[in-house]
Amino acid sequence: MDELVALCKRRGFIYQSSEIYGGLQGLYDYGPLGVELKNNLKMTWWVSMVYERDDIEGLDASILTHSDVLKHSGHEDTFTDPLIDCKSCGLRFRSDQIPEQCKDEELTEPRDFNLMFKTNVGPIDDGSSFAYLRPETAQQIFINFKNIVDSTSQSLPFGIAQIGKAFRNEITPRNFIFRVREFEQMELEFFVKPGTDEEWHKKWVDSRLEWWINQGIPKNKIELQTIEGNELSHYSKSTIDIMYKFPHGLEELEGIANRTDFDLGSHSKNQNEFNITSKVIENKASNAKLAIQDLDSKEWVIPYVIEPSAGVDRGVLAVLNEAFNIEKLPDGKERTVLSFPRHLSPIKAAVVPLKKNNNDIVEKAKEIKNRLQKCQLGRVVIENTGNIGKSYRKHDEVGTPLCITVDFDTLDKGTVTVRDRDTMKQDVIDQSKIVDYFSNYFKQ
Ligand code: GAP
Repeated sequence: MDELVALCKRRGFIYQSSEIYGGLQGLYDYGPLGVELKNNLKMTWWVSMVYERDDIEGLDASILTHSDVLKHSGHEDTFTDPLIDCKSCGLRFRSDQIPEQCKDEELTEPRDFNLMFKTNVGPIDDGSSFAYLRPETAQQIFINFKNIVDSTSQSLPFGIAQIGKAFRNEITPRNFIFRVREFEQMELEFFVKPGTDEEWHKKWVDSRLEWWINQGIPKNKIELQTIEGNELSHYSKSTIDIMYKFPHGLEELEGIANRTDFDLGSHSKNQNEFNITSKVIENKASNAKLAIQDLDSKEWVIPYVIEPSAGVDRGVLAVLNEAFNIEKLPDGKERTVLSFPRHLSPIKAAVVPLKKNNNDIVEKAKEIKNRLQKCQLGRVVIENTGNIGKSYRKHDEVGTPLCITVDFDTLDKGTVTVRDRDTMKQDVIDQSKIVDYFSNYFKQ
């Protein structure tokens, strides 16, 4: 983990937030390469959920959330962690994360600590006009259910996907970007006919497992864990967690829950009109029926929900951890390389002029860069250090799959040298073919 954290800072993936003022715990900023990696991971999820299927719609809802939403979702009452004070050091810990040096007699009994952040909305700060920063993106999906049903032609089963920020006032943020106070989630709420929920739950677990494997996470580093009893969230009938061997241990990467009809039921008015099976929260504030008409029976039903919910930041950490390698080279030297799957690499290609101050070479390199950038496969950069070896090492270390060197032969014969990150093999190709070469490389 330490090596990864150091590389992330050195190369511009991830920095501690507000670092120049001593940092704020549990908050991180994504730098020039981190933002590309994160966007690539999010886009891959979005494409697989929204573009490659016909039964999922997208949403991007507000972060600030009406307090009634989080009251009726159960979060005001139950979204808590057990907090313990240490009387001797004055620090506070989550009850399962007490450092060994704290003695039992110095600890208070655990008490519930609500993890939601509150903020004031509008100019009057008298405690009555507050909103929450959403602790999960899911609630906005539920409260937009009717809007989306009414404005699209979806019928059961169908889903709503959303990627966005979530906030939790974690008692003990830890392990770099693994447990933080501000993070992003990629969430799908998939609405199904009651009775078909268990079958859909299995399907989504399989589908999500396959997706993570395609992001470079090997199957043997993943375990499925069934959550049981008290460990289940208040809304869940059953949850399967996708656990990954992070550098600090086996922990949750994504949870796939069967949320039943709890959320749509709890946010609906006239709950008695429906055959709701879960123990919903009584609602006098909502003016909506979050139900859908069954096309066969014509009955109005509150669907069950299967929810694959993945943490973007945990995904980034897992992908970085798998990509990170220190390789021994045949000449005895070492190289650090981030072997990302091609589609996730923050920089797709670096165009390297052989001579930093040779105008003709630099101009040619810029022209090639612009041509490649127009392919819209991701970021392409000019690497004009004038030192080819150093440029290759840098781009190995940030996971750039291709380096394209422009030299005197480019000016004389029209050829460029393409070096592959993984094989380190170099191909000399005609520059007129570079766009095809580049596009085909990323199609594989
Ligand atoms: N809507 C369901 C939900 O929020 P969750 O298991 O609490 O369920 C889903 O969170 C995912 O969000 C987790 O699997 C994890 O990847 C990510 N996540 C949760 N809390 C986090 C935190 N404090 N820091 C980073 N990621 C977090």
